[in-house]
Amino acid sequence: ATEETLVLVKPDGVARGLTGTILARIEAKGYSLVDIRLVEPSRDLLAQHYAEHEGKPFYEPLLEFMMSGPVVAIRLAGNRVIEGFRSLAGTTDPTTAAPGTIRGDLGRDWGLAVQQNLVHGSDSPESAARELAIWF
Ligand code: CMP
Repeated sequence: ATEETLVLVKPDGVARGLTGTILARIEAKGYSLVDIRLVEPSRDLLAQHYAEHEGKPFYEPLLEFMMSGPVVAIRLAGNRVIEGFRSLAGTTDPTTAAPGTIRGDLGRDWGLAVQQNLVHGSDSPESAARELAIWF
């Protein structure tokens, strides 16, 4: 059924000038942009978004990274868009993400404390609803 997901172009994607390329891949796949905004997220917003990762070793570096520059937040719609965008994004680690995916083609390991992996996509309908309410 038609569903919605939250996609983020993370600060590394925006800083590297890859927003347009990433949007082009999403549009070429056929999903619909419902809403889009450039956000400089607060710590409070990020603590809500990443609540499940609190206490993990990469949590603080992750919040610092996500506050290092603007993020593009996208409300994306389509049949099975949650699963479809995650397939388009590739796996979390950009070094081993499959070529053909956003992370596999455009990402790499920069040797930093956090995986800079260009994009985020909600992982379930429950996460999508929760995250969309945080960012929009
Ligand atoms: P994402 O899946 O969007 O949300 C959690 C983020 O934490 C993830 O993207 C990576 O940016 C980062 N991350 C996940 N696992 C690790 C890890 N083992 N080490 C460093 N960063 C990670």
